[in-house]
Amino acid sequence: MPLPAHLTHRHGELHFEDVSLERLAREHGTPLFVYSRAAMLQSLAAYQRGLAGRSHLICYAMKANSSLAILQTLVNAGCGLDIVSGGELERALAAGCAPERIVFSGVGKTRAEMRRALDAGIGCFNVESRGELDVLDEVARSMGRRARVSIRVNPDVDAKTHPYISTGLKDNKFGIAHGEVLLTYRHAAACAGLEVVGIDCHIGSQITEAAPYLDAMDRVLDLVAAIEVDGLRLHHLDFGGGLGIDYNGDTPPAADTLWPRLLAKLDARGYGDRTVMIEPGRSIVGNAGVCLTEVLYTKPGEHKNFLIVDAAMNDLPRPAMYEAYHRIEPVRARENERPAVWDVVGPVCESGDWLGRERTLAVHPGDLLAVLSAGAYCMSMASNYNTRGRAAEVLVDGARATSIRRRESPADQMRLEMPLA
Ligand code: LLP
Repeated sequence: MPLPAHLTHRHGELHFEDVSLERLAREHGTPLFVYSRAAMLQSLAAYQRGLAGRSHLICYAMKANSSLAILQTLVNAGCGLDIVSGGELERALAAGCAPERIVFSGVGKTRAEMRRALDAGIGCFNVESRGELDVLDEVARSMGRRARVSIRVNPDVDAKTHPYISTGLKDNKFGIAHGEVLLTYRHAAACAGLEVVGIDCHIGSQITEAAPYLDAMDRVLDLVAAIEVDGLRLHHLDFGGGLGIDYNGDTPPAADTLWPRLLAKLDARGYGDRTVMIEPGRSIVGNAGVCLTEVLYTKPGEHKNFLIVDAAMNDLPRPAMYEAYHRIEPVRARENERPAVWDVVGPVCESGDWLGRERTLAVHPGDLLAVLSAGAYCMSMASNYNTRGRAAEVLVDGARATSIRRRESPADQMRLEMPLA
């Protein structure tokens, strides 16, 4: 299977762009996340090509990977940001994102988060319920402000993805049900503290087919038509994120072929003049990152062989949470050795602490492995379980490697605690 972009074997050894991964592991230790700037910008460029010539804003969904250097890279390349918490807002501002290029998504914004976001002057709140609209209206009026809002609609389409990451079905907690959308818009339009500027949807994540997007577009445009008959005009249409990546032979549509198809629908319905917004996360950074880990022990058994590595579910939670598949490649292949079949597991005291099952690998203790497609929803979901420090991160650009986050120490972890006297 071909490797993700900018990952190559050179002299039998894995490189990201022009940097040896073995060298990085030696210099920075493991587990270590390594990201390729070129891979990230290449994924972003596919969206930029797909939306070229349109009024548009690509708001990178920073929940996928919120490291400041990654945000800076994407903001400098023209992205706005999609945030879901007050914490993400502070990171977005610290990374230099213009506040008006920030959209605030999520079902549970607090009053304090709303106040801070209004104060900062963000571009739009993506509102998910009637209750939230009322609270936002009240908060904005108490500040003598008007909050720009878009209402997240639930188009009830099946994104055909893992149930935990499907968000556009009736049963999900997300968005306003199709049948209630019109009344909600009317209500919002009557609130003095709100300015209705858009509509948005997000149907799920790791979507690998075009059909759910095309269906969602039709359903959202039906709603736009109905809303505008009422006399409102929507300045922007936000179609969320969700486009999948190739983890294991997956074949999602390319952003630069999908978007012309979606825009054709928009044009055909007469909405081609509206600003198009999107919130991609995984498809920008997912395949632009790897996690390097060292093999600590081999533990052959009667029924299973275990490969115990120094990365764990606290660093790479996706297999434990979603039974997700991440390719695992040796950093330096042992060409002349017979491989064995291994379950790759971490040191955490849980049976669910696995990174890969039944992988065919020729490895010895001390060898390095690269867990691929680790740029999205790995570091941003990492935890300190078992008081394991979160990993270090390095950003590669051509032959240059820049440290963007140091490894978390036990002292870092205990910093906020107040031991009894
Ligand atoms: N916009 C909204 C409102 C979202 O809820 C999400 C992701 C995105 C944009 C970005 O979606 P993306 O382009 O990354 O698919 N932790 C899970 C994924 C959870 C996605 C949550 N929402 C995983 O590791 O698969």
